[in-house]
Amino acid sequence: MNYYLGLDLGTGSIKTVLFDETGKEIAVHFIEYPLYQPHNGWSEQEPEDWYQAAVQTVKQVMVSSGVAPEDVKGLGISGQMMGAVMLDSNGTPLRRAILWNDGRTSESCEHVRQIVGDDLFMKYSLTPARPGLTAAKIQWVKDNQPEIYAKVAHILLPKDYLRYRLTGEYATEVSDASATQLLDVPNRCWAKEILEKMELTEDMLGKVYESQEITGYVLPNVAEAMGITTGCAVVGGASDNAAGGVGTGVVAPGRAMTTIGTSGTVFAFSEKPVLDRNKSVYTFCMPVPGAWHFMGSVNSCGASLKWWRNNYYPNDTEYEQINEDVKASKPGANRLIYLPYLNGEQSPHFNLNCRGSFIGLAGIHTKQDMTRAVMEGATYALRDILTGIRNCGVEPDSVRMCGGGSKSPFWRQLMCDIYNMPVTLPDMNSENSAALGVAILAMVGTGAYPSVVEACDSIIKMRDEVYQPSKEAAAIYDKVYKEFDALYPKLKENWKSILDLDI
Ligand code: XUL
Repeated sequence: MNYYLGLDLGTGSIKTVLFDETGKEIAVHFIEYPLYQPHNGWSEQEPEDWYQAAVQTVKQVMVSSGVAPEDVKGLGISGQMMGAVMLDSNGTPLRRAILWNDGRTSESCEHVRQIVGDDLFMKYSLTPARPGLTAAKIQWVKDNQPEIYAKVAHILLPKDYLRYRLTGEYATEVSDASATQLLDVPNRCWAKEILEKMELTEDMLGKVYESQEITGYVLPNVAEAMGITTGCAVVGGASDNAAGGVGTGVVAPGRAMTTIGTSGTVFAFSEKPVLDRNKSVYTFCMPVPGAWHFMGSVNSCGASLKWWRNNYYPNDTEYEQINEDVKASKPGANRLIYLPYLNGEQSPHFNLNCRGSFIGLAGIHTKQDMTRAVMEGATYALRDILTGIRNCGVEPDSVRMCGGGSKSPFWRQLMCDIYNMPVTLPDMNSENSAALGVAILAMVGTGAYPSVVEACDSIIKMRDEVYQPSKEAAAIYDKVYKEFDALYPKLKENWKSILDLDI
């Protein structure tokens, strides 16, 4: 039997899963690493931490599974998106990586918009300049740390830095590169006109592969440290969201999924690179040649609940008490609405300056109401994205759910009621779908299956259990959602002026 590794480089941890060629999970190990927030809203990580954690997790799954090193034929990496890892000419990081949820780039986004122009961004990256995407982060370092920028020889996405450490290759693949704003998304290659305006070169960014293509092989010293061999191929891999799309079988028209991790994403397959005229969701390359996807993310989705848990349920590491407490409240949380903008927001607002809020708080409210409001609010924000995707002409008849949030039966039913649509789950540990997605890409890249679609058809099975919306709950959530939606424009200026207070 052949085996494949899926490495899921997340914001909180890296999780490595070893699968056999039928997609069966053989061993899992994860390691957490620190997130640095040196200023309000900044978010950084140490690339070396990712590498060390990757080595240790692979080593651990190899030891615990007892699988022979030479039977591991391929490896794929799923990565947190939109970051910037800047390296000197020796491949050494020049500073910590700036992450997807970093909030410092409002001004540099305006600057890069002036330099490149939204027309070019819209033509190639299918979205106007956005503060969360990599181009604005590159511009920030250029504008604010010119002494560092002068030494930059390579700029990589987080998972592509890991690839570089594993294989020595500077490379990326189409799904993750879509969110740099430097890719020609319709043609799946670097957008030369944008690169010229930003004074970047293709050499700096590395070669762009399709996600299932082999980009290199594991270096001898790395293979030894990990307990695998240099015969292990490293394929392109995918952004964490696109990997979740493959790992839940969202590889055909009409299919959609939601993943809840630190962020939360709604994701739908598209046969064509269609531009969202409302500019509320992204159109990115699918890790399937000749296919694309729509997606939008809530920055603090699982992160909202984690924040709430850390402060009010510090001992509830498995979220068991939380999942009980929410039942003591009721749909609509007794007229309490939570806005999940702890760290600014991506779709549909694209505003780094909005902040989380409880609205309607009254003397009657309990901790249980507040806990429920947090989960409801994070899910209303996901519904905003689903609406954006529907406006692009996609009408999914159900949503597949994955990521850490999918472990909660309460959250599954809540999503189904708030979306007013059936929710299904893959027949596996749904929190490992992104790792399975990139392991599938490794299977295809090394020849175990002829294509990603055929591999998904044979590997991914859905559970029989389907969550159906409750009419009564859906009607209540509909009313509250309208109120939720009306709040952002009313509070927008206040969040900014509060942030600007001279106190
Ligand atoms: C993408 C996003 C996140 C990151 C971090 O829009 O916000 O899902 O990929 O994991």
